[in-house]
Amino acid sequence: MTVPGFTSTGSKRPDALFGVSADVPGRMVRAAGCRLWDDRGAEYLDTAMALGAVALGYGHPAVVEAVERAARDGVVGSLAPALEAEVAERLCAVIRGAEAVRFLKTGAEAVAAAVRLARVVTGRERVLTCGYHGWLDWCAEEAGVPKAVRGLRREVAFDDPAALTATLEAFQPVAAVVLEPVVSAPPSEEWLATASREARRHGALLVFDEIKTAFRVAAGGMAERSGVVPDLTVVGKALGNGLPIAAVCGAREVMEAATRTWISSTLATEYVSLAAARAVLETYAREPVLEHLERVGIRFYRVLEQLADAHPELVGGVRGLPQMCYLDFATEALSCRVAREAARRGLLFKRNAYNFVSLAHGDEEIEMVTERLGDVMVEVARTC
Ligand SMILES: Cc1ncc(COP(=O)(O)O)c(C=O)c1O
Repeated sequence: MTVPGFTSTGSKRPDALFGVSADVPGRMVRAAGCRLWDDRGAEYLDTAMALGAVALGYGHPAVVEAVERAARDGVVGSLAPALEAEVAERLCAVIRGAEAVRFLKTGAEAVAAAVRLARVVTGRERVLTCGYHGWLDWCAEEAGVPKAVRGLRREVAFDDPAALTATLEAFQPVAAVVLEPVVSAPPSEEWLATASREARRHGALLVFDEIKTAFRVAAGGMAERSGVVPDLTVVGKALGNGLPIAAVCGAREVMEAATRTWISSTLATEYVSLAAARAVLETYAREPVLEHLERVGIRFYRVLEQLADAHPELVGGVRGLPQMCYLDFATEALSCRVAREAARRGLLFKRNAYNFVSLAHGDEEIEMVTERLGDVMVEVARTC
């Protein structure tokens, strides 16, 4: 057990991906575009795409070139990198309401930083949440998290304006309402508008955790699509196309709270990831990446819809959005069987939230998904 629990990323454990640990893909050695090779030499077409961390495709040339140059330029040093200010400016041009940015290495850190800022700004401690925000203590219920910390957070159901209003009222004083704007479905306008209005009415900050949605459903995530501008936005995943970078951003007067607390990490200023983020931002500005994700995503989503229609005994429907979606299987056991059978046919298909298309997925890959997943569903239906 040199890596207890198999790996640091819970959702990549074989039992999480396939329901079992034996005779399934375990560890990988290489990836390119939307293909991946495991340590037994098998090749897979990937629709899980590093849990959404990669939207341009594995090893995208512009990102690789930027990363190589930054690595040759020393990776990190004893002063703050000039690139940090440049990437911050570029991010502010894309994220609604952003005038200032702090960079972190992981999504969990960046959401924790947003909560810290909200606590400094409001002088309050409690937090209302919806969705997944990482593993850190402030939002976790697992073993090892102090009871007192758990007591500072309350979770609300996704897309339920009445529940949000009532819980916010009952749980006062609240520092922040932290929402993942997409949880299995797009949100209603009413929910986001209610969150914005009620947070303001109660003196809490509204935080959008756009770690999955930014640079995917729109460059500026659901805030851009909905028009609701939160006080703070957290981005990560696709921003670095696989390199470890995340950011919290917002209006200058809110972000200025960072100077009244301590948010600091030795390697938050390594500039390989910053260089990757700049290359990503330039690529989005130069190429119709979002249009591609939407177009191919719609094709992928339709394939899933057709499979759901053809196999009501296996699947209750398709969840999510074209750019990030999954099949809602009747049972967990069925979802595991489908994921295992798909892997046997060279397809890494996520059995639950989410599958993500990328710039590297084209019509040919959608055809392959149609064929392989179609065969899998017939096989599983025949023997279930
Ligand atoms: C919405 C959201 N917030 C936060 C996180 C945590 O990010 P990380 O795993 O980079 O710490 C994730 C990761 O999946 C996420 O999807």
